[in-house]
Amino acid sequence: MSVTLYIPDDSGALALGAEKVAKAIENEIAARGIDAKIVRNGSRGMYWLEPMVEVETPQGRVAYGPVTANDVPSLFDAGLVSGGSHKLSLGKTDDIPFLAKQTRLTFARVGIIDPLSLDDYKAHGGLRGLEKAVATVPAEIVKTVTDSGLRGRGGAGFPTGIKWNTVMLAVADRKYILCNADEGDSGTFADRMIMEGDPFVLIEGMAIAGIATGATKGFVYIRSEYPHAIATMTRAVEIARKRGVLGVNVLGSPNAFDIEIRSGAGAYVCGEETSLMNSLEGKRGIVRAKPPLPAIQGLFGKPTVINNVISLASVPIIMDRGAAFYKDFGMGRSRGTIPIQIAGNVKHGGLFEAAFGLTLGEIVDDIGGGTATGRPVKAVQVGGPLGAYFSRALFDTPFDYEAFAAKDGLVGHAGIVVFDDTADMLKQARFAMEFCAIESCGKCTPCRIGSTRGVETIDKIAAGIESEKNLELVTDLCNTMKFGSLCALGGFTPYPVMSSINHFPDDFKPRALAEAAE
Ligand SMILES: Cc1cc2nc3c(=O)[nH]c(=O)nc-3n(C[C@H](O)[C@H](O)[C@H](O)COP(=O)(O)O)c2cc1C
Ligand code: SF4
Repeated sequence: MSVTLYIPDDSGALALGAEKVAKAIENEIAARGIDAKIVRNGSRGMYWLEPMVEVETPQGRVAYGPVTANDVPSLFDAGLVSGGSHKLSLGKTDDIPFLAKQTRLTFARVGIIDPLSLDDYKAHGGLRGLEKAVATVPAEIVKTVTDSGLRGRGGAGFPTGIKWNTVMLAVADRKYILCNADEGDSGTFADRMIMEGDPFVLIEGMAIAGIATGATKGFVYIRSEYPHAIATMTRAVEIARKRGVLGVNVLGSPNAFDIEIRSGAGAYVCGEETSLMNSLEGKRGIVRAKPPLPAIQGLFGKPTVINNVISLASVPIIMDRGAAFYKDFGMGRSRGTIPIQIAGNVKHGGLFEAAFGLTLGEIVDDIGGGTATGRPVKAVQVGGPLGAYFSRALFDTPFDYEAFAAKDGLVGHAGIVVFDDTADMLKQARFAMEFCAIESCGKCTPCRIGSTRGVETIDKIAAGIESEKNLELVTDLCNTMKFGSLCALGGFTPYPVMSSINHFPDDFKPRALAEAAE
């Protein structure tokens, strides 16, 4: 009987040597004359175990990891193909605590299916949401998404259904669905994992959005640093077109919808929705003033739904299982699940999908296992480069948009970056201002000039030059940036800066010039 082996083709696993492992396994299969099939799957999201090899057994899938090419002969000697015991054995994949503790809705198929097999996708529940969408009316789809409580996973947490409703009601000869796959936040990789591990779920979500709003054309704007995601999405769109999931008659219905993949321009600010539209139109990636809202006058001046990858990829399960099913997960006004990306100096880095409501402490200490260096956790930055630094004193904050906002922080795209006690928070604050200065699109003064003055002022504090006065100046500058900037790049840079100052005041005491210049 033929055996199926799974070796991830995900960029993270490839960076850790998955290709060499796949080659070594292919060679071993040929040399031993074993009847085996290799599936290149997405990652299960446990990056400290990658490359993780799985084998299908009558008891379910059994995992081994992290595997190197050198381990392969001994794995076969130990009976890998029948799930035999080896020093790299991890037991049944589904029983690995990091996976077992998750609620996988959006990521239900990632790491399980062959990403480019539409049949595999369908066999695991794919296309059911789209089938329901083509059988109903746009207003019903929009209502389902609204009632589910889904909020944008790109950062702002805006209710997805409300956005779709505006576009649905807009009258125009053309409308667009624009998927934001720029994924610029530090420590984030959820969008990439979906695009590489389950591309059809994004295509399905975009097609549902198109049918709901009357848009016939979609674009996926993927950061250029994601060549694998670009290749997988391009291939998946071709397959979907060939199989009638995209095209003039989506799933045989009168609805037309097609998708084009575009590569990003390589700037953080091009992830901001209006800047992204300019970039896609071939213009300089500079922020547009709002109004008009993209939902009224967006891409090429037409009504546009712009949503993050995870927002769109969460729609198929909502359509399939219903609004109430999805809404049942979560807390407060944060409904459903959120793929938390645990990164930085952490023992168990990876993707953990869970209902909203876990505390930051549970995520960092229990799920992440503390720091990789074994030193105490000092700070955790949540929500990308514009997110606040949380100290241990704030570890009881639950993962929830409102709870984070109440602590002057943000959930953002749900990336968390862990730092141990060697982190220098003055340097992190300086880095935030410097990042803003480098990435600023230059359109408004508080951000363009303020960030540069911010770097200079923090350098003065480090050098012990009128520390108190300059701390006051930074605080004042942060207020100007927060309330006077046109977009969240300048407007949110104060979060990492002020949280560093407020939660780690000792790091802002005067120090030697030489140390600050390091
Ligand atoms: C500087 C800046 C960078 C951003 N980068 C991204 C990004 O990489 N991906 C993303 O989905 N949203 C990003 N956003 C948020 C988008 O502007 C927008 O809110 C989002 O695409 C809307 O989709 P959602 O409602 O599904 O979250 C960024 C915003 C700002 C201000
Ligand atoms: S805040 Fe910065 S990035 Fe945003 S519009 Fe102003 S200058 Fe551009």
